[in-house]
Amino acid sequence: MEIIKTAVAAPNIALVKYWGKREDLLKLPYNDSISITLDDSVIFTKTTVALEKRLKEDVFIFNGKKVNDERIGEWLELARGRVAKHAPEIAGMNMLIVTKNNFPSSAGIASSASGFAALAEAFCACAGIKDAKEKSMIARLGSGSASRSVVGGFVQWVAGRRPDGEDSYAVQLAPKKHWDELVDVIAIISVAKKKVSSKEGMENTAKNSPLFACRLKEVNERLGRVQKAILKKDFESLAIEMMRDSNSMHATALHSWPPVFYMNDVSRKIVEETLKLNGKGIVAGYTFDAGPNAHIICEKKNLQKVKNMLLKVKGVKKMVCAGLGNGSRIIETDMAEFSKYAKKYFSESESPKSALR
Ligand code: PMV
Repeated sequence: MEIIKTAVAAPNIALVKYWGKREDLLKLPYNDSISITLDDSVIFTKTTVALEKRLKEDVFIFNGKKVNDERIGEWLELARGRVAKHAPEIAGMNMLIVTKNNFPSSAGIASSASGFAALAEAFCACAGIKDAKEKSMIARLGSGSASRSVVGGFVQWVAGRRPDGEDSYAVQLAPKKHWDELVDVIAIISVAKKKVSSKEGMENTAKNSPLFACRLKEVNERLGRVQKAILKKDFESLAIEMMRDSNSMHATALHSWPPVFYMNDVSRKIVEETLKLNGKGIVAGYTFDAGPNAHIICEKKNLQKVKNMLLKVKGVKKMVCAGLGNGSRIIETDMAEFSKYAKKYFSESESPKSALR
């Protein structure tokens, strides 16, 4: 028996951030978060999952190289546990996972979000799981923010309260078409791997930052305002809320011990220039994830102004502009590309026949 499915997923950028887990293993957050899912024709992870009896072990190929990734191993164990309820025969088979990103990993562009969303989408397709809630929960088991990349447009990850996480998944607040004028201009400042992972950073913050409790209270008040701004397409309110939420996350992390900081001098210069650009009326909002790269959100009519502003900032190496996307999805497997891995890792040399189901 052999099953092959390929999925693509895009990163998402949080306007109200997830920062801090109430439960570590299942990745259950303290607070709800809100994001926009980006356009997967610009920025994406593409992942093929092949379940094949001839495979002696799970194999993970990332950007063309076989790697041993502890996080993937942990995810597989948890994801199989869930999938076993729907399709025990699928959960019992080894997997060849071939994945690639068209953007730098671990640099503040949420590669884990698109990565685990694509992986969850492909694995769920292998098991015949179509339910969006279930897919979001399976993606969440790899990386919290991945729960949001499964869904398109404007997305809220509901934190939930249950210890088993069955009420912690992402839902759509509004589809892409509701406010398709929004665009995220990602200013790449550094592609170096970050020194403190988001996992470590948020753990440290939740444990040691005196500002953490204050942030949770603030976030819970902000969520309603951000929902309202999205529904009314009120850019000014949205931009102010997202900038303040980013400031809050980074300030809370900085006030941890040891201090955690992700933004650098170039990031701070971008904050300054965005505020200057907004001097005569709000046209853009900045937000930073766990890295120095800036995400500047604006409406398409102001895109050139934002690009001009970023072009003046020394240290911005590249800009990537991505509009909204529709969430993770299944695409046709490129068998020419896939068969070289299949030949190498399936113990018999023939390549899979019954693919593309
Ligand atoms: O899902 P993780 O572990 O990569 O954490 C993501 C945290 C932030 O990107 C900083 C915020 C967010 O909500 O995406």
